[in-house]
Amino acid sequence: MCQLFATPVANQIQGEVKKRVDGFRQLHNRPPKLSVVLVGNDAASQIYTRRKGELATRLGMDHETILFPANAIPTHVREQVQRLNEDPLVDGILIQRPLPKSFREEEVLYWIDPSKDVDAFHPLHAGELVLGIPTLQPCTPSGIMELLAFYKISVQGKLVCVVGRSPIVGKPMATLLLNSDATVIHCHSKTPNMGKLTREAEVVIIAAGKPGLIGSAEIQPGAVVVDVGIHRNSDGKLCGDVRFDEVAPIASAITPVPGGVGPMTLSILMRNTILAAEQRAQL
Ligand SMILES: NC(=O)c1ccc[n+]([C@@H]2O[C@H](COP(=O)([O-])OP(=O)(O)OC[C@H]3O[C@@H](n4cnc5c(N)ncnc54)[C@H](OP(=O)(O)O)[C@@H]3O)[C@@H](O)[C@H]2O)c1
Repeated sequence: MCQLFATPVANQIQGEVKKRVDGFRQLHNRPPKLSVVLVGNDAASQIYTRRKGELATRLGMDHETILFPANAIPTHVREQVQRLNEDPLVDGILIQRPLPKSFREEEVLYWIDPSKDVDAFHPLHAGELVLGIPTLQPCTPSGIMELLAFYKISVQGKLVCVVGRSPIVGKPMATLLLNSDATVIHCHSKTPNMGKLTREAEVVIIAAGKPGLIGSAEIQPGAVVVDVGIHRNSDGKLCGDVRFDEVAPIASAITPVPGGVGPMTLSILMRNTILAAEQRAQL
């Protein structure tokens, strides 16, 4: 069994991003800038936001985090996002999820100017992805494709099962796989006999957000297993949607939690930011 550690891939991507950031600075006399909007005080969101800022700084980018209280009025947040859309010095904007319940996701998705939408959640990007038009891609699924490619795991012609159909992970993941010529089985919470379907697949990608959902009974020996889930168990340790100790001995390759998918997501976010900056500079 091979563990698909993100570190070598993430380092490679970040090294390339750093070079492009240096080139951008020389050409435009300023660093590319990432602005993160954080509403509320969700502990995990605060950690993720801090990590994004730290990595942006390490790669030579400018960044800011704009904080709003949990009871912020959506219109006020929207006005702030509009100011960022209009600011020529801001290249990438992201709104940290989850948002408080007073925010309607189907409206928020339209707030960020697509040219600065480095999470690639805007419906324009979602549509382009489905149509196979080159575009900014959502960070987690795009990172998983990079991780598989780095470890020379081709999905072409393979039977791949995706568990989860969220707009930010499961759906774009299935689309990217389809665009790469995989045959995709797509499962969700209403899928009956899901274990029968996951067991059929040569590659299984699980993004259900349910700790320990998948065990050895749901995986065929020799399969590649990608665990997107991230949770803290009762001992305070990080774990995924897969029961790692059970599945690792039968899988041919598996992503660890932590150290698998998470660092890929961050690295692709940085790559999307420099790409957005470069593309905007050409407009
Ligand atoms: N490592 C990273 O960088 C990263 C990035 C993003 C997310 N994550 C993690 O990935 C997980 C998923 O995130 P998300 O945002 O996609 O979650 P989400 O929005 O809650 O979506 C979960 C999806 O899983 C499906 N599901 C739930 N229970 C299921 C079950 N028992 N069997 C089959 N499908 C089931 C749901 O089906 P329905 O549609 O039918 O409800 C839904 O489509 C979370 O643990 C999250 O923290 C990690």
